[in-house]
Amino acid sequence: MPITDSDDLSIEFARAIDAASPLREHRERFVFADDTIYLDGNSLGRLPRRTSQRLREVIDTEWGRDLIRSWPTWIARHDDVAAALATGVLGVRPSEVTIADSTTVNLYKVINAAADLRPGRSVILIERDNFPTDLYVVQGIAKARGMSVRVVDSDIDGGLSVEQVRSALDDDVALACFCHVSYRSGAIADIEQITGVLHEAGAVAVWDLCHSAGAIRTPLAQARAEFAVGCTYKYLNSGPGAPAFLYVREDLHDQVRQPIWGWFGQREQFAMGGDYDPVEGIARFTSGTPAVLGLSAIEEGVRSITDAGIDELEQGGRLLTGYGLVLADSWLAPLGFTVASPRAASRRGSHLTLHHRQAWQICQAMIARGVVPDFRTPDRLRLGMAPLTTSFEEVWRGFDAIREIVETDEHLQFPAERARVT
Ligand SMILES: Cc1ncc(COP(=O)(O)O)c(C=O)c1O
Repeated sequence: MPITDSDDLSIEFARAIDAASPLREHRERFVFADDTIYLDGNSLGRLPRRTSQRLREVIDTEWGRDLIRSWPTWIARHDDVAAALATGVLGVRPSEVTIADSTTVNLYKVINAAADLRPGRSVILIERDNFPTDLYVVQGIAKARGMSVRVVDSDIDGGLSVEQVRSALDDDVALACFCHVSYRSGAIADIEQITGVLHEAGAVAVWDLCHSAGAIRTPLAQARAEFAVGCTYKYLNSGPGAPAFLYVREDLHDQVRQPIWGWFGQREQFAMGGDYDPVEGIARFTSGTPAVLGLSAIEEGVRSITDAGIDELEQGGRLLTGYGLVLADSWLAPLGFTVASPRAASRRGSHLTLHHRQAWQICQAMIARGVVPDFRTPDRLRLGMAPLTTSFEEVWRGFDAIREIVETDEHLQFPAERARVT
């Protein structure tokens, strides 16, 4: 019986689904240090067991013993990991992805490159509920280039629709920068249709995949999207501060440049020439020395995603969030919660967002009990269900804790206002 049709809300039922899950053996490859209920894998993914061993090897052997002699190994690793991420996670060509810097810096690179492709146009399109760093990067680039920013009024819960994008387009729009999965509600923007509409209007597509890479399919190739960026510390489980990735469609490589000219993007790097002459291919989107420790962690993170398979993970995420919906409707709706995320499985990423007037207090009460959610303004409880690492039992226990907290007013002992960070 599909989980969402079941009226069995017992923990035994949740355990039975876990026992039958094709992802169970993959979950066992992660560190579960204690009985924390972790519903925030979409902020920072769990640690793969192999990664701690791997990083120790990189530190002790490759760095500690072999020192600079490890550089050829590290450079080869950079290319291999990017290729594995391209094919196993994003479904694009191995030559179309590189790993570098942070998502924010990569956005700066690809948005400038996208604007260069449409020199006669002066508008950058964004959506109101883009992740803030995307907004800031776009604002800074528009200011520096004398362009203007046009904001699509997307819905805070329902996300971005094709119609909203279509009605914001004209022949002055150079590019649009949108998130595939909304960081707040988890709503999916239709990459294929939206990119199609952008292309009809002659605009370039830049996609932020932070909340989708490693959790759901990212149809960049089918859409012929020009650019994308994303992080590796969420669903790719590569650890805090691990470098980000960027994708550029192959036929554009030799036409585009990015603005942070550095020696790693230089032809014949070690000739130490005085003038910048970018190398061919995706490597021109790199600037400086790769972060080798983070890269080695990405190798393990990407392996765990690829072994499980992105189709399996997308299906697993839909089942988990669907189960969360059943529990929310049955247990939490009577306690003042409403579901903010889209209800259709095909429109949800791998997190579920609930709206409650006292979400901030509830969030703190949950953390005090060892249940880790996230809070998002204005009054949303964000519950991440990473398909590779979250179990149905964890979801059951997390929702049961929310129910108990609100039923007993446990959350009211926590401050109602978020402390201001000054
Ligand atoms: C959708 C989205 N874009 C961009 C970022 C920023 O990434 P970074 O801090 O790695 O530059 C985040 C971070 O959580 C994010 O969720």
